[in-house]
Amino acid sequence: MFKHDPTTTSTVEIILDGQTIAVPGEMNVAAALLAIGKIISRISPTSEKPCSPHCLMGVCFECLMEIDGVRRQACMTPIRDGMVINRNLKDIQRGQS
Ligand code: FES
Repeated sequence: MFKHDPTTTSTVEIILDGQTIAVPGEMNVAAALLAIGKIISRISPTSEKPCSPHCLMGVCFECLMEIDGVRRQACMTPIRDGMVINRNLKDIQRGQS
């Protein structure tokens, strides 16, 4: 569904869950993570199940992540070099994220 075309966008480096990774730039955080296959945004505090960005326009809040120390909607936050993003996915295996 979401494919990243490296010929059309720049790349930025971020720290995601403690690991430095390169992601597409010039888009919002949610789209950049989806483009590299990171589809889980958080663990629901009520169901304790993984959530993924849903609306990508600031309505559903399924994309909440800790971005530079503040919980924000990833779909409404432009990605930039050096961002520190924590999805708090401690309870699920890395292979699923
Ligand atoms: S994906 Fe719905 S608010 Fe971000």
